[in-house]
Amino acid sequence: MRAVVLREFGGPEALKLEEVPDPSPEAGEVIVEVHAVTVNRSLDLKVREAGATRGVTLPHVLGVDPAGVVVATGDDVDAVEMGDRVAVVPHIRCGTCEFCTTGREEQCPNSRHIGVHRWGGYAQYVSAPAKNIVQVPDRLGFADAAVILRHAPTAFNLLRNLAEVRSGEWVLVMGAAGGLGALGVQVAKLLGATVIAGAGTDARVESALANGADHGVNYRANDLTEEAERITNGRGVNVVFENISDPALWPKAFASLGHSGRLVTAGAHGGGKVELDARRLYGRRLRIIGGAGASKRDIASALEAASQGKIHAVIDRIMPLHAAADAHRLFEEDALLGKVVLDPTATRGNA
Ligand SMILES: NC(=O)c1ccc[n+]([C@@H]2O[C@H](COP(=O)([O-])OP(=O)(O)OC[C@H]3O[C@@H](n4cnc5c(N)ncnc54)[C@H](OP(=O)(O)O)[C@@H]3O)[C@@H](O)[C@H]2O)c1
Ligand SMILES: [Zn+2]
Repeated sequence: MRAVVLREFGGPEALKLEEVPDPSPEAGEVIVEVHAVTVNRSLDLKVREAGATRGVTLPHVLGVDPAGVVVATGDDVDAVEMGDRVAVVPHIRCGTCEFCTTGREEQCPNSRHIGVHRWGGYAQYVSAPAKNIVQVPDRLGFADAAVILRHAPTAFNLLRNLAEVRSGEWVLVMGAAGGLGALGVQVAKLLGATVIAGAGTDARVESALANGADHGVNYRANDLTEEAERITNGRGVNVVFENISDPALWPKAFASLGHSGRLVTAGAHGGGKVELDARRLYGRRLRIIGGAGASKRDIASALEAASQGKIHAVIDRIMPLHAAADAHRLFEEDALLGKVVLDPTATRGNA
C-alpha cells in the first residue's frame, strides 16, 4: 500500500510517500481502507517534529482518526463486517487500571494512541482493534466523520459533563476558529448557551460567527475581559471553554467569569504556564476543571448530533495523501479556517 512514512523526526519534508506491505488483520482487529484522516497540531505536527518525547518509534505512520471502509476482519471480530462505513477511535485503553475497571475508561492514565503509538491513517489502509471501530451514519461523509470524531466528543465532555453548561448560560469559547473551538461553539449552542467566540484575528472571529457564535471578540486587538463584561451587561460569563493556556490570554479569560463560573480546559498550545488570581477564584466561587478525553456516550452524542445536522465539521480543504507535507506546511502558516483532511483515495488537487 501507499503510506506517508516518517523515518526521522523533523520538518514537513520528513513526510515521504512510500510503498509498504499491506497490513493483515490480527485476531480481534480489522483493516480499514482509509478515505479521510485529519491533520492536527499536537498529534501530527508535534509528533512529526519530536515524537520521541511521546514514545513514538520509527519508522512511523501518523494519522489518529481515520475513517473509511472495512476491507478485512481478523478472527474473533463479530460487531464489524466487511463493507461497513466506519471510523477509528484512537485511544487504546489499558483495561486494567482503576478507571478502566470502573467504567471510566476516558480517564485511563495508560492510554495508547493509534497514529502515535502504532501506525495510523496516513496510508491506504490502517489496522485497528475492532473495539476501536464506530459505525459512521449514512448521512455523514468520511471527512466530516473524521473531523467530528476528532473534536466533538471532547467538546461534549468539556462542556456537558465537566462544565455542566445549562440552557441560557453564557459560554466564552477561546480559539473559536480552531479545530476544537469550532466544535466548542456548536456544542455550546446545542446545549442552549449564548456563545461569545474569542479568536486572535478578525477573520477567525468572522469564521466562528458564521459557525453559530452569537458574539465575537478579537482578543489580540481588544481587552477580552472588558469585552465579555460589556457583552454580558456586567454579569460575566458562566463558562470559559479555554484549551490554549497562553500566559497573556488565560488571565483575561479567567477574569471574564461571573459568579460561580467554570473554566474548562484540555489544551496548552499557548505554553501551559499561566498566572492564577486565587482571590478571584475563591471569592467568586469559581472552578477550574481539566479534562482531556471523551466517553462512549460523548462519541455517540457527537455522531448523532452530526447525522441530524445539529453540528457540522468545519473543513478548510481536503488534500490527497501525497500532499501530506504541504498540508503540514499550511497548518504551520496559520492560514487555515477549518481542518485539513487527507484523502488517500484522491489522486490530485482538492478531492
Ligand atoms: N480532540 C480534541 O480536540 C482535543 C483533545 C484533547 C486535547 N486537545 C487540545 O486542545 C487544544 C486545541 O486543539 P485544536 O486541535 O483545536 O488546535 P488548533 O486547531 O491549532 O486550534 C487552536 C487555537 O488556539 C489558538 N491559539 C492561541 N495561541 C496559540 C498558540 N500559541 N499556538 C497554537 N494555537 C494558539 C488559535 O486561535 P487564535 O490564533 O485565533 O487565537 C488556534 O485556532 C490543543 O492543545 C489540543 O492538544 C484537543
Ligand atoms: Zn486504564
